Amino acid sequence: MELLLTVARDRPGTLSAQIQSQIRDCVRDGSLHAGTPVPSTRDLARQLGVSRKVVVDAYAQLAAESYLITRQGAQPRIADGPFPNAAATPRPAAARPDRFDFMPARPDVSSFPRAAWARCLRDAVAEITVADLGYGDPFGTGAMRDALAGHLGRVRGVVTVPDRIVVTNGYLQGLGLICRALAARGARRIACEDPGGVDESRIAARAGLEVVRVPVDALGLRVDLLAAAHVDAVILTPAHQHPTGVVLAPERRTALISLLRATGAVAVEDDYDAEYRYDRSPVGALQGLDPEHVVYAGTVSKILAPALRLGWMVLPPSLVDAVREEEHGTARVEQLAFAHFLRRGDLDRHLRRMRTRYRRRRDTMIAALAESFPQATVRGIAAGLHVTVELPRTADEAAVAAAARALGIALATMGDYSTRADRPPTLILGYSQMTESRLREGVRELAAATRTGT
Ligand SMILES: Cc1ncc(COP(=O)(O)O)c(C=O)c1O
Repeated sequence: MELLLTVARDRPGTLSAQIQSQIRDCVRDGSLHAGTPVPSTRDLARQLGVSRKVVVDAYAQLAAESYLITRQGAQPRIADGPFPNAAATPRPAAARPDRFDFMPARPDVSSFPRAAWARCLRDAVAEITVADLGYGDPFGTGAMRDALAGHLGRVRGVVTVPDRIVVTNGYLQGLGLICRALAARGARRIACEDPGGVDESRIAARAGLEVVRVPVDALGLRVDLLAAAHVDAVILTPAHQHPTGVVLAPERRTALISLLRATGAVAVEDDYDAEYRYDRSPVGALQGLDPEHVVYAGTVSKILAPALRLGWMVLPPSLVDAVREEEHGTARVEQLAFAHFLRRGDLDRHLRRMRTRYRRRRDTMIAALAESFPQATVRGIAAGLHVTVELPRTADEAAVAAAARALGIALATMGDYSTRADRPPTLILGYSQMTESRLREGVRELAAATRTGT
């Protein structure tokens, strides 16, 4: 164990006093935190080239001043404070955990397939080549991109070769790359769905693009209005619009592809949760219709866990060089682990298990809502991990959400995604993170909160 200290005989003060004052200063300025272990007296004496007695004296004094905790046989460590004259670093109050978590678009991470992932990770560490331990191709390892090309073609109808795939730290980081690459190529305006995620608009704006919000209706993005917006690019969620849950209708897909071809604009297809559908047929990726004008983006955040920060984009050839200018690589051991996870069928197995579980939770959610919210219209039930609950016009969406949050119920509302005022009050409720009995309980409590907020 090392500690960044220096002592010298020609400096003012004894060697012991120099050690004491440096440790005191580090504690006061916050670089040595409460509880941090420090080297034993023997170790520190060796590191500094001084006699052990010098360090023993210094530690004894620091312990007497309550800076240090020293116990026979235990690693010395910085005490818990408070410390005299320490810089005030107020800790943020720990957030109270939510009693019921209805936040949408999150998977049940408590079902993360730990054993299968641990096997893949262990094998990845054992097998990774010396070449792959270097920086390598910033677009990702060959194994990951080969496995992805096969997987995406098989389950999503994505048309690609491994060379056009870039592995990213999740979708949102990838979106930043694309937006910057588009801006560097001269793009000025980009469309986002309304309602749609706020992160997307923010990321596009930070890349210097002017963001235009284009409405979504029951058939998906209004492509006629998109045409009128004269944009260079559009970000959309065609397989399962976020958050309304609608599918981009076949005629809208055709119209969108025609528009992209006519204008040279690019669509960024966020295919974040297409794996979860319950009572409708699969919808293939838009990218398969026109790989020259569509960037396909995927992520493990909904199928495994957001913590892995692993995503991918399939690029049109025209964007490969521009994205290469922006990309600096993604953790490579995890890529190899994910390639194993795909090849061994672990992902297919995990998804089969989760689909069954989520379907049961969805059914429970719909039944509970029918009982506790008889006047509401529940939509977006056929796929995904959340539903939308349209309340009677008399309800005040913000007041309902505030009342729910005060009761420890986490949820989203359409207002979190939409810029439009002319819409019914709507709650967006995820059902993936709670057991069926907790869902029933949570919906009952939410109904009580809604009565308060109506
Ligand atoms: C619509 C949508 N797409 C994609 C993502 C995933 O982003 P990431 O891969 O960066 O976790 C999210 C995260 O909540 C999302 O809501």
